[in-house]
Amino acid sequence: MYSENFQKSIAAVEAAREKNIALEPERMTAKQKEDLLAAYHPDYKQGEFAVLEIGPNKGDKVPTELAEMLQAHSRIKADSVDLSNPDYDVDVLVIGGGGAGSSAAIEAHEAGANVMIVTKLRIGDANTMMAEGGIQAADKPNDSPAIHFVDAFGGGHFAAKRDLLSKLVCDAPEAIKWLSDLGVEFDKTEDGTMVTTHGGGTSRKRMHAAKDYSGAEIMRTLRDEVLNRQIPVVDFTAAIELILDENGNAAGAVLMNMETKELLVAKAKTVVIATGGAGRMHYQGFPTSNHYGATADGLVLGYRAGAKLLYAETLQYHPTGAAFPEQIFGALVTEKVRSLGAKLVNVNGEVFMHPLETRDVTAASVIRECSDRGNGVDTGNGLAVWLDTPMIEKIGGEGTIEARIPAMMRMFGQYGIDIRKEPILIYPTLHYQNGGLDITPDCMTTNVKNLFVAGEAVGGIHGKNRLMGNSLLDIIVFGRSAGKSAAKASKETTLGALTLRHVEKFESEIKAAGIETEKVSPKLLPDYTRKVK
Ligand code: FUM
Repeated sequence: MYSENFQKSIAAVEAAREKNIALEPERMTAKQKEDLLAAYHPDYKQGEFAVLEIGPNKGDKVPTELAEMLQAHSRIKADSVDLSNPDYDVDVLVIGGGGAGSSAAIEAHEAGANVMIVTKLRIGDANTMMAEGGIQAADKPNDSPAIHFVDAFGGGHFAAKRDLLSKLVCDAPEAIKWLSDLGVEFDKTEDGTMVTTHGGGTSRKRMHAAKDYSGAEIMRTLRDEVLNRQIPVVDFTAAIELILDENGNAAGAVLMNMETKELLVAKAKTVVIATGGAGRMHYQGFPTSNHYGATADGLVLGYRAGAKLLYAETLQYHPTGAAFPEQIFGALVTEKVRSLGAKLVNVNGEVFMHPLETRDVTAASVIRECSDRGNGVDTGNGLAVWLDTPMIEKIGGEGTIEARIPAMMRMFGQYGIDIRKEPILIYPTLHYQNGGLDITPDCMTTNVKNLFVAGEAVGGIHGKNRLMGNSLLDIIVFGRSAGKSAAKASKETTLGALTLRHVEKFESEIKAAGIETEKVSPKLLPDYTRKVK
C-alpha cells in the first residue's frame, strides 16, 4: 500500500528494528518534560486561547473555539417557550446516551427513580463506543488504589481534585466487577484471571481490556441493560437549554427534535449532564479520534445555567492518531499498540523517546520530532512518525496482533497495510477534554443544586492530563455515582416554578459585554460543509 515515496524510510525502520527492539529508551526528567510541553504542546500556544468575558468563569482563558460557544446566543427565545405544560415529567433526566449517561440511568433506575435518557443521536453513539485500549483498576495483588492514585496524580500534573481522583481509584475494582456481572467480556487467561497491561504513565499493569474494542464491549453491555430495564430513551433529541426552578435549582431541559426542530419541555427534579467530549470542535485545526457528536454541549448548557468550569483550557491530544492513509486521518491508534511493544520511530529509523511516557509528553515529543527536528515523514497530507507495529509480533510471538489488537489490524488492513509486517504512520489527534464542569464527589455541580455531571463533561478528576484507561473508568464510577445521587436528591426535592430567566440574563450579559456574535450554541453537530468562496 505504501507508495515509492515511503520506501526509503521504511527500509531504514526495518534495518533498525532488531536494534530498536533491544533498546531501552531513557525516561525524560521532570525538567525535560516541562520544557518539552511548554515548547510543543498545543495547550501552551497562547494565541489559540481567548479570555471569557461573561459567565461564572469570567477572566479565565479557554480555547478560542470553546469561548465562541460559551459566549454565543441561545437557540431559543426564553419567553417563547411554554414551560407550563411539560412534555415529560421525570425524577431524573439524563442528558447523553453514552457510557456515563447509561450508567447513571441504570443506577437511578435501580434506586427506584423515574429516569429518562435524552440523546441527540442514538443511545451508544458516543466516545465510549469508540474507546479501544482498556479500563484501569488496581485489582491485582501487586497493586493498590493508592498506587493508582499516585500514577494518575503525577500524570495529571498534580492538579486533579484529590477527592474526585480518590473516588475514581478506590471505586475502580468494584466498577470492573459491576461491568463483569452485567456481562462485559474482559480478556482473561485460561484460568479466568484478567489479562492486564501497562498504559503510558502506569507503574503497574492494571489495564483491563476487551481486545482493542473495550469501549464497544462496555457500551454494548450498558445499552442492553438500559433497554432490558425499559428505561425510556428519547433519541435524536438534543437538550438545548437547561431549565431552572425559581430557586435557581436544575429542573429540566428544553429539548429539540434533531429532525423536525420541534421544541419539547422535560421537567425533572434532578438533571444529569453526560454529554461527553469536544473533539469535534477541532481545536487548533486538529483532527479527532472522537465521535461525531462530541461538541462540548454539556459545558455550554451548564455554563449558561451558572455552573463553573474547571481546567477548560486543557485538552488531550492523543499521540497516536492515524496519519495515513487520509481516509482514517485522526482515527485512534490505541496506546495498547505501544503497551504491546511497538516503539515510535522517526523518518531515519531512530527511536526518539520512551513509548510509554504520559500522553501530553508523548504528543509534544512527536510534534517536536516532526517540526524543529525535521525528522518527520511526509505523508502528502502533513508530517508523521512511524509506530513500528511489526515489533509486537517479534516480541509477543506470531499471532499477537490478531489476538490482542484485531481492530487495529482491520482498520489498516482495509487500506492494504498489514500492520504485522509494515509500520504505521501516526501524529497527535484531539482526543479528550481534560476540563469540564466543576463537581463535588457526589457529582453535583459546585454551584447549581440538583445539576449533576458525569463522564467527559466533568473537569478536575484527572487534573491537566489523563492517563489511558482512566476515562472508561470515570464514566462508570462517576456515571453510577451521579445516578445514585440524582435519584436520592429527587426524593428530597419539591420543584418551584420553572423558569428560563437565566437564559435571558445571559443574553443581557452578552449585550452588556459588547460581544458581537452571530453564533448560537450548543453546537450539537460539527459543520463540515465546504464553504464556497
Ligand atoms: O489509546 C487508547 O486506547 C485510548 C484510551 C483512553 O483514552 O483511555
